[in-house]
Amino acid sequence: MTINAHNRLLMTGAAGGLGQAMRGRLKANCAVLRLSDRAEFGPAHSHEEIMLADLADADAVLATMHGVDAVVHFGGISVEGPFGPILQANILGVYNLYEAARKQGTKRIVFASSNHVTGYYRQSETITADHAPRPDGLYGVSKAFGEDLSRFYYDRYGIETACVRIGSSFPEPKDRRMLASWLSYDDLHRLITACLTTPVLGHSIIFGMSNNSVTWWDNARARHVGYAPQDSSDVFREAVFARTPAPDASDPAVQFQGGGFVKAGPFPFTG
Ligand SMILES: NC(=O)c1ccc[n+]([C@@H]2O[C@H](COP(=O)([O-])OP(=O)(O)OC[C@H]3O[C@@H](n4cnc5c(N)ncnc54)[C@H](O)[C@@H]3O)[C@@H](O)[C@H]2O)c1
Repeated sequence: MTINAHNRLLMTGAAGGLGQAMRGRLKANCAVLRLSDRAEFGPAHSHEEIMLADLADADAVLATMHGVDAVVHFGGISVEGPFGPILQANILGVYNLYEAARKQGTKRIVFASSNHVTGYYRQSETITADHAPRPDGLYGVSKAFGEDLSRFYYDRYGIETACVRIGSSFPEPKDRRMLASWLSYDDLHRLITACLTTPVLGHSIIFGMSNNSVTWWDNARARHVGYAPQDSSDVFREAVFARTPAPDASDPAVQFQGGGFVKAGPFPFTG
């Protein structure tokens, strides 16, 4: 199967952790990879274009969408914090992105949603895409907004979206919680590739996780996408247990899927 399914692919958040990790990998998915962020991140390499834009700037976002066939949307505030920046980047920003897609005729988006949309489910529960959102903070609420907005743009305008509720995508799981939530970079690329190439994506909510033995999420509702993870946190399990203290079962960060996010804030509003 060829994974080079698009001519020009836009990746937002290109200066960030996942943007940097996916930059090289996503070049296999397109003829031209257009990279965007509000922060500088150096020169373009071969088969790349760089267009800096603040997601809160509708005109700038519209310009980045010109000639784009599909989007991987990583840009935005990626942790819990004051509402002002979340409002600008994750709420106004995702609206600007979908409006730009509508105006430019872009029909497929992979939206980096988050496990924090459902962070207030307990670690003892297994949830599916049919469970209602239970965000664990303002960041999670902003991702839930993005999921609802993308649903509307699919129903009204036919723009297909994969809302990938990324667990913890880092080189290795850093703590015991991440043994359940870990998503390797290669599996993230496999998941994005599945979302970009499946003939019919529709509007899909997919938990972004590797093939971990311990899991809180059931991806049965997303089988049509064809994502088959090949990595597992299990190989890190012993080492993580050895270097981290036994969890305190009365700690909300241990009880709820969102971990430490359930204890973050409140933050004063900053614009
Ligand atoms: N890494 C994970 O495990 C994880 C887990 C869940 C969800 N996610 C989501 O995946 C995406 C990428 O995560 P990451 O770990 O690379 O985050 P990151 O914070 O490293 O990168 C986010 C990028 O977005 C850019 N950005 C922020 N505000 C912006 C704005 N207003 N306009 C334009 N660009 C802006 C930042 O400059 C940064 O380069 C985020 O949307 C995050 O919420 C990541």
